Amino acid sequence: MEFSDILRRRQMVRSYTDEPVSDEAVERVLEGLRRAPSAGFSQGHRVVVVTDPKLRQAAADIAEARYVELGFPRWIASAPVHLYVCTREASYHERYNAAEAVRPGYDEIPWPVPFWWFDCGALFMMLTLASLNEGLATGMVSSVYTDELQALGDVVDLPDDVALAGIITVGHEDTSVRMPIPPGAATRKPNSELVEWRRA
Ligand SMILES: Cc1cc2nc3c(=O)[nH]c(=O)nc-3n(C[C@H](O)[C@H](O)[C@H](O)COP(=O)(O)O)c2cc1C
Repeated sequence: MEFSDILRRRQMVRSYTDEPVSDEAVERVLEGLRRAPSAGFSQGHRVVVVTDPKLRQAAADIAEARYVELGFPRWIASAPVHLYVCTREASYHERYNAAEAVRPGYDEIPWPVPFWWFDCGALFMMLTLASLNEGLATGMVSSVYTDELQALGDVVDLPDDVALAGIITVGHEDTSVRMPIPPGAATRKPNSELVEWRRA
């Protein structure tokens, strides 16, 4: 698939058929993890791959109620693959504190940007685009509630020093399902509102 087509097709999908995704396809998607950038090459990324239907349902049980309230059909457990995008923040502290060059005068750099979350976003997009390249569709499950996000992480028994950013749902889109458009739904802003140039 042309890269420009992959970019054009990038969109969150919230309906999946029961067509399975092969482990081989998931492994190819995970090559995106090997090539993901990380601040200072800290490599704090962690990914948990879930195909077990019980665990997919457990995530849905935690996060799906608000979609149902908005009139969405249930969709989370139907995605055959859940990719838990996680970060180990300690990897960044360890790496930067070991690098004398990046912390002159500091015991710890002040982290004006929490790079561990930034890197999760970059990884999220690499895994998403790699999935599209496999002819698969993706969505995202996160939470605005700390305890709910923690509960989602508990589904896969994350180690104490690893935190969940969100779950990428992966599968084949069920195009027969019509999604409701919530009242007040946003529309895509034109680049003219989002981009500024500073030309000489
Ligand atoms: C950090 C982040 C968290 C998100 N969390 C959720 C979520 O919990 N559930 C969901 O259905 N979509 C979630 N989304 C998807 C956004 O709602 C979606 O990207 C946005 O509405 C634009 O739609 P599009 O991606 O289909 O173009 C999330 C996206 C991002 C980047």
